[in-house]
Amino acid sequence: MRTQIAAANWKMNLTLQQAEALVDELLQTPHSVNADQLAIFAVPFPYLITVKNKLAGKQNIFVAAQNCYHKKNGAYTGEVSAEMLKSIGIEYVVLGHSERREYFNETNAMLGEKVNIAFEYGIKPIFCCGEPLSIREAGSQNSFVETQLKESLFHLTADQLKGFIIAYEPIWAIGTGKTATSDQAQEMHAHIRNVFATQYGNDVADTISILYGGSVKASNAKEIFGKADVDGGLVGGASLIAAEFATIIDSLK
Ligand code: 13P
Repeated sequence: MRTQIAAANWKMNLTLQQAEALVDELLQTPHSVNADQLAIFAVPFPYLITVKNKLAGKQNIFVAAQNCYHKKNGAYTGEVSAEMLKSIGIEYVVLGHSERREYFNETNAMLGEKVNIAFEYGIKPIFCCGEPLSIREAGSQNSFVETQLKESLFHLTADQLKGFIIAYEPIWAIGTGKTATSDQAQEMHAHIRNVFATQYGNDVADTISILYGGSVKASNAKEIFGKADVDGGLVGGASLIAAEFATIIDSLK
């Protein structure tokens, strides 16, 4: 069984006080994270240590950064390195979110460097991919996503990709309330798995957790997560509401 993952992406939301209250409320809301499941909270940089401390000792619950820089260290004012994340005990990092690609001009090549730096410091990437509406309307989503994966990840070894985490987030479904249907998600997830199987073999492809992101909420999570190649979700808006996210965690296979 692949690891099933409910990942929260808070994006640039919440004050520290609101963040603490949200975690407290979530911990008080009944939910269970089983042995083959993970809950991951991708929180803004200033809250990483606080949220990590709050979740200390919780089984299978981790904190992630939402980004890191693609260079090791140096004169890059305002950036945060993988080494810094490692030094505060962070084990996961979201890379290549469509908002980073769009607003901060992150390219496939740059994301390949970010993945390398994360690996160098033992931080596991949650690598995002997904097509804009125009590409979906043109019916070119499969090749578009394939190119994103190839250009950023195909230099990795099979060992590095074992247990890797991908988040497929169609841009037209992010924050729009317009979810891909569970069949659309399954179709793309199967394609993504096949892309890895073709290059690295089924042994590798079958271990990759592929999360769906885009307007996941308590009311649709079970249906989407129920699909064979959907191994959980990366959740924006609904992760800011404790009861919603608790239900989403409980919707994992
Ligand atoms: P929403 O769940 O708000 O659509 O955001 C999805 C997302 O971008 C998660 O990374």
